[in-house]
Amino acid sequence: MQNKVFLQAARGEYTSRTPVWLMRQAGRILPEYRKVREAAKDFKTLVKTPELAMEVTLQPVTILDVDAAIIFSDILVIPEAMGLNYEMEENKGPVFPRKISSQKDLDGLHIATADELQYVLDAISLTKKELNGKVPLIGFAGAPWTIFSYMIEGKGSKTFSAAKKMLYTQPAFSHQLLEMITQSTIHYLKGQINAGADVIQIFDSWAGILGPDQYEKFSLQYISKICDAIQDTPKIVFAKGAFFARAALNNVNCQVVGLDWNMGIEESRALLPGKVLQGNLDPCALYGSLNDVKKETRRMIDAFGPNQHIANLGHGLYPDTEVDKVKCFINTVKEYSSTKSFASK
Ligand code: CP3
Repeated sequence: MQNKVFLQAARGEYTSRTPVWLMRQAGRILPEYRKVREAAKDFKTLVKTPELAMEVTLQPVTILDVDAAIIFSDILVIPEAMGLNYEMEENKGPVFPRKISSQKDLDGLHIATADELQYVLDAISLTKKELNGKVPLIGFAGAPWTIFSYMIEGKGSKTFSAAKKMLYTQPAFSHQLLEMITQSTIHYLKGQINAGADVIQIFDSWAGILGPDQYEKFSLQYISKICDAIQDTPKIVFAKGAFFARAALNNVNCQVVGLDWNMGIEESRALLPGKVLQGNLDPCALYGSLNDVKKETRRMIDAFGPNQHIANLGHGLYPDTEVDKVKCFINTVKEYSSTKSFASK
């Protein structure tokens, strides 16, 4: 591996500077992405054609010079492999033509095997070959609770009240579905690692919708199960909005915990003493002037300190972010963190 900083940091090792990548780095902020996306006609064709998925995975590595690539795909490939097809509606987001509301619906699903997602595995193998050791490749999946929410709601939601209603009114049914998603995800992530993924990230995008008790019971338990099933590969858990679960996340079998911008850095260090932290600049900070971006990025680096940190945003890049601001964020992390004294073991 030529650029090792990300992988070293993800293993909890000391690095020469802070590594940096961005959630949603492969996507609409890049004109080069939009061109490939238009030619492919729709999102799912892009995801299901390994050559195209590889091309857009590599774009941010070449154009933005990030320290890691993340495979271009979506968390919703799991429900599809389990038997619940999704559509990506233009400018609207994901929609499921059928959703899960009864035992009969659930009986129509199955635990997915890795080969049912062979197109993602092929995209990973192809990308690894093309990267040729330039930077590591991140594989990913949604956390069972976030996937469950989409399968019950059938689309995005502000409150996810239908998914939460299920937890309150049909807990056994909920656990049954969460367990099926968990087993599918374990097969899938093991397949990604066999295909060449160097690090795994679990996205719990709707963690913040639950309270602490429900989060422990219906989400964290399943994230833990996934992390325990995967050995030898560094794991990152990003639970958006789960500020209340930071102390519990310290006990999960993962090396890295992602923070969103609502989570105080010092406080998070105290709650997560055993973890490398990833994050957490507000994606909206990139709407500021280049000077402001520099200032905010330096402030973030100062607050995390030079070690046990992977620089990122507190959530995915917004599509209308200017590429120059993104480059400024990346370059500032690299330059400014290089001036800090990094302890070595
Ligand atoms: O990070 C990357 O660059 C890798 C690719 C990636 C995508 N989706 C591509 C994508 C990753 C890691 C995801 C994860 C994902 N997908 C999450 C978890 C992360 C998060 O943001 O919280 C979630 C919740 C989804 C589900 C999803 N996919 C939504 C809600 C949407 C619509 C909203 C949006 O951002 O457009 C998508 C579509 C999607 N996934 C796009 C991309 C590049 C945009 C589709 C397009 O090109 O038109």
